[in-house]
Amino acid sequence: MSDNTFTWGVIGPGNIASTFADDLAHIHPVRHRIGAVLSHSLEKAADFADKEDAPRYFDNLELFVQDAKVDAVYIATPHPLHYEATLQCLQNRLPVLCEKPMGMNQRQVQEMIDAAARHQTFLLEGMWVRFLPSIRKVLELVDEGAIGKVLSVRADLSFKAPEEPDSRYFDPEKGGGSLLDLGIYPVFLAHLLLGKPTGIRAYAQLTSQQIDEACVAILEYSNEAYATIESSLVIQTANTASIYGEKGRILIDTQWNEKPSRIVLTHYEGDEQVFPCAWKGHGLQFEAEEVCRCVRANQLYSEHFCHSFSLDLVSTLDAIRHQTGIIYPADKKINSTP
Ligand SMILES: NC(=O)c1ccc[n+]([C@@H]2O[C@H](COP(=O)([O-])OP(=O)(O)OC[C@H]3O[C@@H](n4cnc5c(N)ncnc54)[C@H](OP(=O)(O)O)[C@@H]3O)[C@@H](O)[C@H]2O)c1
Repeated sequence: MSDNTFTWGVIGPGNIASTFADDLAHIHPVRHRIGAVLSHSLEKAADFADKEDAPRYFDNLELFVQDAKVDAVYIATPHPLHYEATLQCLQNRLPVLCEKPMGMNQRQVQEMIDAAARHQTFLLEGMWVRFLPSIRKVLELVDEGAIGKVLSVRADLSFKAPEEPDSRYFDPEKGGGSLLDLGIYPVFLAHLLLGKPTGIRAYAQLTSQQIDEACVAILEYSNEAYATIESSLVIQTANTASIYGEKGRILIDTQWNEKPSRIVLTHYEGDEQVFPCAWKGHGLQFEAEEVCRCVRANQLYSEHFCHSFSLDLVSTLDAIRHQTGIIYPADKKINSTP
């Protein structure tokens, strides 16, 4: 390991892992590279390793955790596989950046966090939006009182998912459904700005397999604030987020959770300020840099997205699922603590 290089292992070399690998090129001065790849198909792992110039590739999790020789592991499999891969990495003292949602339910997330503490190893949920310059700007504006006390957060996220037979989007075994895939982002924004809600009223449009193709919820807070969140895999909404305060509002323009075109601060008296958003790549490099910083400082978590945030987030997702009847196979299994 050299100070100038940070080496990643990748578990699940699919769509988002490719974007992650591309974004690593935008990090300086530390060079981030891929050193090991795990797929359930050795051929796919080899293809990805070849493309990224990674020396090791595997199709077996146990062999990967023993021989990856990396500084941290990025887990980007479909959601139901996050739990097992994370536990195995942590048991082998491999720091983990685990894609969202970290686990399928609160029990899994709690066990993952407990394992990080037991094995004294870094763990971060891949809520990459938290580290984007756009969200940092919004937090800065709110903290400096630009809109006064936050009273309402409204955010939606949707896309018309392809109904292909192998698609993970509508398959309960692969954690399909709009809430865990997309709705988690609006729920995250509400938690970031207002905290954990005291009440929830939710509605979901369920498929015949008990997962949601669309989901809407109102999150209630004791201080008269509220949040409205919406996600869908069957319609295309505006994909914007608005934060309303006593003195004004902040609009994060479309696509608010990726690279928004702009942030607009409007005071109710009328004046408006526009902040353009621009950075290289998709934006996953910012969370990768955060992992590198924390791991090198021997931290077990990032203070910008700590374990209790992940737990609060999943408890809200669980509560919405409980109200609307969204059920996954993982909810029925009793998992053992390693
Ligand atoms: N941060 C973001 O913006 C973002 C965006 C999209 C997704 N995500 C999250 O990232 C995760 C993956 O999403 P995706 O869209 O990248 O899915 P994807 O394209 O289907 O990729 C998943 C990858 O995991 C592989 N895989 C499946 N089973 C495996 C196993 N047992 N061991 C190792 N690899 C295995 C798949 O291989 P096969 O293709 O051969 O099955 C595929 O390469 C999801 O949890 C999702 O929520 C995050």
